[in-house]
Amino acid sequence: QFLIGDQLSEITDQLHAARDEAFADVDLLRSGGEIPAEKQPLDSGFIDLPQRLLDGEDGLVDKMLASAAALRTRIDRLVVLGIGGSYMGLRALFEALCDPYHNELSRDDRGDVPRLYFEGNNLDNDTMSSLLKMLKTQCVRPQELAERWGIVVISKSGGTLETAAAFRMFRDALGEYYGHQSHLAQELVVPVTGETGKLRDLSNALGYEHTFPIPDGVGGRFSVFTAVGLFPAAVLGMDIRAILRGAADITEICRTKPLGENPVLDYVAACHLLERDHGMDMRVLSTWGNRLEATGFWYDQLLAESLGKHERGATPLTVVNTRDLHSRGQQHQEGKRDRVINNLTISEFASEPLSIPEVAAGVDQDQLNRIAGKTIPELLQAAIQGTNKAYADDKRPTTDMVLPKLDAYGMGQLLQLFMLATAIEGRLVGTNPYGQPGVEAYKNNMGDILYK
Ligand code: PA5
Repeated sequence: QFLIGDQLSEITDQLHAARDEAFADVDLLRSGGEIPAEKQPLDSGFIDLPQRLLDGEDGLVDKMLASAAALRTRIDRLVVLGIGGSYMGLRALFEALCDPYHNELSRDDRGDVPRLYFEGNNLDNDTMSSLLKMLKTQCVRPQELAERWGIVVISKSGGTLETAAAFRMFRDALGEYYGHQSHLAQELVVPVTGETGKLRDLSNALGYEHTFPIPDGVGGRFSVFTAVGLFPAAVLGMDIRAILRGAADITEICRTKPLGENPVLDYVAACHLLERDHGMDMRVLSTWGNRLEATGFWYDQLLAESLGKHERGATPLTVVNTRDLHSRGQQHQEGKRDRVINNLTISEFASEPLSIPEVAAGVDQDQLNRIAGKTIPELLQAAIQGTNKAYADDKRPTTDMVLPKLDAYGMGQLLQLFMLATAIEGRLVGTNPYGQPGVEAYKNNMGDILYK
């Protein structure tokens, strides 16, 4: 408020216009009409997708749930191959909604769903070797559920080297494990891919029975609510209808409510004005909980790849507090005045609050008896309030976003909120939020080196 209060009314009309343009982009996309050059690619399809899926489009939700239920009962380890937008959204959902020690739990305690491993998201020989080795050597009785594994390979273009190379290797390993002619080596692979492209062609050639589409008009980093995020989420037992409901509900609020009653527009307004008028182009997503870290990484990609163009665009940075108060906290408190701290907090934790035990006076050297009985959430709350006060006392701006609970509905709202905010901010500042032409440069050079 102390930095942007007066400017809010000045940009209200511009913000509403940017919001209306972002929603009009959906109509343009759906109309099938000609898309002006400056709007290409137009990947606005993510905006109405949650409601369309809830309304039963192509029976896709039912198909994903049925196929996920079948796969879940046939494997105990799921390897998901994908990178960027074909990886980070699922990871955000997994870390937020599954048990933090999911892979260590017994099958019963996991809710009768498989363990999850990510690959194809880097060119790291050590991690890939270790996973392949673990799958080959730990699982020696492929006929038993407890030792069976399968693959979901996700690539919209099919032309992404990291994912394609990993798919070859893991496919090979799967063939060796079950026997190359075994029906399991075929049935336990589910490709999620664009309507055309190399992975689609390969899937057709290999005759995979279950494949899921990534629709045209939904860009990679905006694709978490397609089969990219939802199919593996369903295999892991997440409530994908609740996720979609959260996303559809925040979309409707964003479409209809004015600035001041609209969390998407409020977030864009604060970040935009601090950047425009005060040069605060570091955008720190300050998450207060380990389970939100991957959501932060997902948002880092979304913001950087969408608005980091034409030598402009804020730089995203994710921190997890209180952990990072002991590292980056110093700089946020006393470093350059180039950042806004966007707090993301959770009101109600899933688990029972743990409290500090009282000990005998003779061993109270840590002097914690004076807060004995206080709970971890109470300590966290004190840290949040104390940190915000420290920033405010030094006129360093913060925003607060509060998730009532870290559940499927809330994650649907949260991820869609950030995607809408990014699309609207793009329209506000005149940057096409879709497409990532800058990523091609390294790929082309790499291709020249590898294929010459
Ligand atoms: O946002 C994007 O479009 C990118 O981050 C892509 O998701 C990423 O490059 C992976 O692309 P693909 O799914 O085609 O393999």
